[in-house]
Amino acid sequence: MSLPKLAVLISGRGSNMLAIAAACRSGGLPCQLAAVVTDRGEAAGIAAAAALGIKTAALAAPDAPRLSSVELESKLEAILATCSPDFIALAGFMRVLSAAFVERHLGKLVNIHPSLLPAYRGLHTHRRVLEAREPFHGASVHFVVPQLDAGPVVLQARLAVRADDNESSLSARVQTAEHIIYPRALGWLAEGRCSLRANRAWLDGRPLAAPIVEAFS
Ligand code: GRF
Repeated sequence: MSLPKLAVLISGRGSNMLAIAAACRSGGLPCQLAAVVTDRGEAAGIAAAAALGIKTAALAAPDAPRLSSVELESKLEAILATCSPDFIALAGFMRVLSAAFVERHLGKLVNIHPSLLPAYRGLHTHRRVLEAREPFHGASVHFVVPQLDAGPVVLQARLAVRADDNESSLSARVQTAEHIIYPRALGWLAEGRCSLRANRAWLDGRPLAAPIVEAFS
């Protein structure tokens, strides 16, 4: 039986993409990594994926002007059509996708966001968490819906903020946790255990009343 196909969309370093690729290679994530796509040709992650022999595509040449949303999505759809992914994982993809694009791929599109959603949607989450002196922080894997960072959350990594944390120490711990929870949640999708139905995340035949939470230190 062939494995479900996964496309990963990145804009930068691609450490989550590399964790996903490693999990696919080891068999821990039962998916075929069909393509890694970037909106920024200069993204470090795209070279790293190509070096691993993964099919890659850049929607724009390195350092090219920013594509309009219409151009970006039409190029992206053309690439997706060549590999027909069962799932599309946003992993540090820094463009907001249109409602029409999201609706076309609803239930297949997931994202990882560096906060305990619904808290701290948007950017600069580590800084904002530190400024607010929050006791806890983390990351969330969620289905993508048209409203930004608002889709049903499947799995969260939760960790305590330390008294001596700064933005870089906190983000490093959150990222380490992301590299574990993202492949895990994608595995649930690939195995058919997790889906989006009626705007709720379902796991093992039941709607999730709250995300599954894993504790990290
Ligand atoms: C991650 O922290 C993720 O939560 C956010 O963007 C970052 C991407 O990092 N959406 P990387 O490119 O995977 O290293």
